[in-house]
Amino acid sequence: MLAKKANDPLLKFWTLLSKQEQQNLTLQIKQINRTLLDQQIALINPSKSVDSFIEPFKDYAFAGNEKLQLKGKQLLQNGKMGCIVLAGGQGTRLCFEGPKGLFPVSVIKHKSLFQLLAEKTVAASKQVNFPLSLAIMTSPKNDQATKQFFVENDYWGLSKGQISFFCQSTLPLLNAEGSLFLETKSRIAEGPNGNGHCLHDFYQSGLYDVWKQRGIEYINIILVDNPLADPFDAELLGFHHQQKAEITIKCTEKHEPQEKVGILVKENHRVKVIEYSELPDQHKNASEANGRLQYCCANLSLFCFSMSFIENTLPNHPFLPLHKAWKAAKFVNEQGVTTLSSHPIAWKFETFIFDWLQYSKKVFALLYPRHHCFAPLKNFQGNDSLESVQKALIYREKEILKSITGLEPSSNLIELAADFYYPTADLLNKWKNRLAKTLYVEP
Ligand code: UD1
Repeated sequence: MLAKKANDPLLKFWTLLSKQEQQNLTLQIKQINRTLLDQQIALINPSKSVDSFIEPFKDYAFAGNEKLQLKGKQLLQNGKMGCIVLAGGQGTRLCFEGPKGLFPVSVIKHKSLFQLLAEKTVAASKQVNFPLSLAIMTSPKNDQATKQFFVENDYWGLSKGQISFFCQSTLPLLNAEGSLFLETKSRIAEGPNGNGHCLHDFYQSGLYDVWKQRGIEYINIILVDNPLADPFDAELLGFHHQQKAEITIKCTEKHEPQEKVGILVKENHRVKVIEYSELPDQHKNASEANGRLQYCCANLSLFCFSMSFIENTLPNHPFLPLHKAWKAAKFVNEQGVTTLSSHPIAWKFETFIFDWLQYSKKVFALLYPRHHCFAPLKNFQGNDSLESVQKALIYREKEILKSITGLEPSSNLIELAADFYYPTADLLNKWKNRLAKTLYVEP
């Protein structure tokens, strides 16, 4: 228990607080996990890093197998897969206030990331004639705004039973001295604890049990900021099932040495992801005789997990390893006013979803063409911005329309309704040899 000392900086404004604020602060202090806090403090004190031997990861299979797609569709039809969308991040690089899922990305209708996902879930459900389950992981900072957005839009046609929300947990930030500090007069600064803890939060929210009772055996995990991520990827599911995998990684080829993506590597015969910032330059630039990058396999943080793996592994691993980052943060100044620092002032601690890989011996990877699965929205401008995302959406949707109609789309600007991603037999019949006349194409 953190003692209430008169000179404790966390209690600096104590006498100015209302009874309710005093109670909230006391509760927050009580809820701090001391074991984790010790780990956080240990992590910011530099320790000698151990050099490990890594090799390029090459043991992936290639996507594009129709038999696996069919198998996956059968499993979807039987309700075996649910999708979790990781949407608890803060989207700081995008300079967007509010949940990233509210960001309008589609080219003609300006649909938000959440709308695209909801409509894809409705379309995939129609295709397999089964109400597929979708869950959104939020964080305390965006939970309310996210839920409200879905309510205001009537869940875009999803039934109430199909959609769920659960909130991820947080960790306190530490200042340069390794101490807790106040964000407001009555609140200790905290931040979302990264996307790795999602399985714990999913389990503890009770949703795991609900999904298990529904007969769901596999979970597709996707990131909210990638509108080409397929929430119900039949082939990934078919492959995962065929391999009897615990985790399947959906990956693509890295397109240039400096691209800011995590990389799949092999360490002690096990697959692991190393974040862009931690991969040494000599590995980033290393190429094969044919010019292809040696470390070429990009992590997209798209995974299929078996529910049984989660149930068996969680109890033994209550915490994932922590990673630290030095960031700008909100703090309360001497006058009791909260401000956002103009430069980094605090250590933020996060867990990473791919750190689950180390706990499984049954990990497989499926490599997809980039334009089928990866259009990340990370930055306000330049790489991975709205401009690059919209280009990727147009390219992919023209390709889909061409494959369905057999004809070259007439316009360079096009947006497809979600049904085209999951075509039913009726849609295929209706659109065979038919040219789209409008920019927004509906079934
Ligand atoms: C992530 C991957 C990186 C990959 C890249 C591809 C992780 C840890 N890293 O990097 O290997 O190459 O995407 O686009 O996944 N999120 C939460 N809660 C949090 C933090 C993040 O839900 O506390 C969610 C975000 O909303 C977002 C996703 O996780 O959907 C990725 O988070 P971000 O911090 O943006 O990771 P990247 O650096 O882009």
